[in-house]
Amino acid sequence: MTNLDSDAFVFFGATGDLAFKQIFPALQAMIRHGHLNMPIIGVARSAKGLDGLRARARESLEKHGGVDPQAFAALSAKLQYVNGEYSSPETFRELRKALGSASRPLYYLAIPPDLFETVAQGLANADCDKGARVVVEKPFGRDLASAQALNKTLHRSFPELAIFRIDHYLGKEPVQNLLYFRFANSFLEPIWNSNYVQSVQITMAETLGVEGRGVFYEEVGTIRDVVQNHMLEVVALLTMEAPVGHDADAMRDAKQRALRAMRPLTPGDVVRGQFRGYRDENGVASDSQVETFAAIRLHIDTWRWAGVPFYIRAGKRMPVSATEVLVELKRPPQDVFDTISQGQADYFRFRLSPDVTISLGARAKMPGEAMVGETVELVVRQSSVDEMTPYERLLGDAIRGDPTLFVREDGVEAAWGVVDSILGNGTPVHEYEPNTWGPAEADQIIAGDGGWHNPEPTKAEALAVKQ
Ligand code: BG6
Repeated sequence: MTNLDSDAFVFFGATGDLAFKQIFPALQAMIRHGHLNMPIIGVARSAKGLDGLRARARESLEKHGGVDPQAFAALSAKLQYVNGEYSSPETFRELRKALGSASRPLYYLAIPPDLFETVAQGLANADCDKGARVVVEKPFGRDLASAQALNKTLHRSFPELAIFRIDHYLGKEPVQNLLYFRFANSFLEPIWNSNYVQSVQITMAETLGVEGRGVFYEEVGTIRDVVQNHMLEVVALLTMEAPVGHDADAMRDAKQRALRAMRPLTPGDVVRGQFRGYRDENGVASDSQVETFAAIRLHIDTWRWAGVPFYIRAGKRMPVSATEVLVELKRPPQDVFDTISQGQADYFRFRLSPDVTISLGARAKMPGEAMVGETVELVVRQSSVDEMTPYERLLGDAIRGDPTLFVREDGVEAAWGVVDSILGNGTPVHEYEPNTWGPAEADQIIAGDGGWHNPEPTKAEALAVKQ
């Protein structure tokens, strides 16, 4: 531990969904790797006390990643519990006591954003805010105006350097590798621009639906849930210039310029879809217009990317679960042998999940007398598991005070600025059948560029279909 590291980990919303799915598994993993030697304090309103919280932690791990007996025992021993309402000064007095001599706590606000102000105020009143850092979850606001308001609220209690806005995509190993692959290979730079790149497609497909999160999903929809954050962050990493310098802000400055260069979307750039059956989900309105699918055409107004369309597609109840980036290069200028149409030109494929691949699609002659070719893939990297989950990596970074992989105030606002005018129900929502690639209307968005590339299923998914 350095003298900049946080010295206590406090999570608000300790009995909530996020803690259950992500925080307990990340805490256990951090303990297993020897990265979390400090008090761990859960804050929530529940009558079940510390034993109840320990039982919930165990249940969480049984469902998400498994219980490691040794690490879990250590987690249980370090765990403390503060029970109380966030509006009550008593809760924060209890927290102050639980913090003991800790002077640089990390607060994880795993709670709805409308409670941020109350909690920030409570922390300040009980003298818990000195030297503190705060981690906040997405969705960071609902639109540009609410994100700006939220930033103002947080800044009343915390300086920007102490605020860590999580986008878990940035903590994913293959997303990090996008950046590494781009800037560690000099062969890429000369062709990474509009002279050679025809178009870029990003598909984030999920076979799952909204999984009992109907109430939450009605408030967000696909564009707020995954496009404004995960997808635009990926586009920023693909399109940004090399950072100037090595500090966290050098990286975030470069990303910020990429985000600012994204042309704000207009209704003509988006097709929204909703899977048949969504309206029957608990908590969903019977006439809901909320999208569970979006296809978007985005332009980047820079010298490097002028004229190159970026197509983004994200949806629930798709035929496969996969996130994939396809950077399609231009066809050769002349057909010397066979005709190479746009869908057959060279490409880079970055499969980000669930399995990881970086590959280069190239043409090679098929054996035989004719000078006729086929596309082959040269695989650069293939792996199936991350060493660390994104949450483990990101929480570790926040504890060390490294903001590189977190979204800065101007970044979150720039991303909202891109989608702001297509939020809500201003464009029609088209129904699609579950287990398909979304509504037919989505094909129009990309018609000029050879159509969508549908990611392949994983081996397990393909096997399941065969059986
Ligand atoms: C979350 C969204 O941010 O990302 C979910 O709220 C989505 O709706 C999830 O399913 C996907 O994340 P991952 O890591 O499974 O690709």
